Amino acid sequence: MVLAGLGHRFPRQPFLFRGVTATLLPNRVYALVGPSGSGKSTLLALLAGWLEPTEGRVHRTGVSRVGWVFQNPHGVARRTALDHVVLPLLVQGLTRRRARDRAQALLVEFGLGDAADREFAALSGGEAQRLMLARGIAARPDLFLVDEPTAQLDARTAARVSSTLAGLARAGTVVVVATHDAQTRAACTDTLDLVTAGVEPRPASGASGA
Ligand SMILES: Nc1ncnc2c1ncn2[C@@H]1O[C@H](COP(=O)(O)OP(=O)(O)OP(=O)(O)O)[C@@H](O)[C@H]1O
Ligand SMILES: [Mg+2]
Repeated sequence: MVLAGLGHRFPRQPFLFRGVTATLLPNRVYALVGPSGSGKSTLLALLAGWLEPTEGRVHRTGVSRVGWVFQNPHGVARRTALDHVVLPLLVQGLTRRRARDRAQALLVEFGLGDAADREFAALSGGEAQRLMLARGIAARPDLFLVDEPTAQLDARTAARVSSTLAGLARAGTVVVVATHDAQTRAACTDTLDLVTAGVEPRPASGASGA
């Protein structure tokens, strides 16, 4: 997948970034970095095709299934953790029994084995976020966009999430991870820095060059 001269601005706002050009390959995990408010989540929305870029293009060759784990996890309050992961597997045509087995294995992989029967509303922030990751992976995306997956996790759990994302990439998925976390960034194979990649230095409005 190719990003060609991508730039974006919201109405009546300056450009967040411009001229972002990159080729994103399967088998790699890209860390999307930049300060808070620099446009990481916005760039993920452009990659997903949920938002049209102000300028430039996203060429999404070979990508039919896009998975996105949001910065703030949201699931169905009264549904169990297990059901959240079973659903995308049923959509793929697995039998209920095989879907449950696979879902349970994914939960264990994310350290949620004991939370399978708990309702979404009863999960902690970090548990809910890991559940969203497990659900996203269950859908076998070609492109997996993950927004701050480790922000609420302790270092050890974060390392486990990073290695699971690396495993997904090795299975052929393009993985893009927006993150502030140095450890998570270090676990990625490549870095896409919004500041160096595309933000045009913008003059303070009305100032004479301070
Ligand atoms: N729909 C919108 N309309 C107007 N402005 C928006 C919209 N969405 C985001 N913004 C603004 O664009 C800027 C970039 O937001 P974005 O969420 O992409 O940043 P981010 O790099 O993901 O930040 P963080 O690290 O805090 O998650 C912010 O100033 C935000 O307020
Ligand atoms: Mg964000």
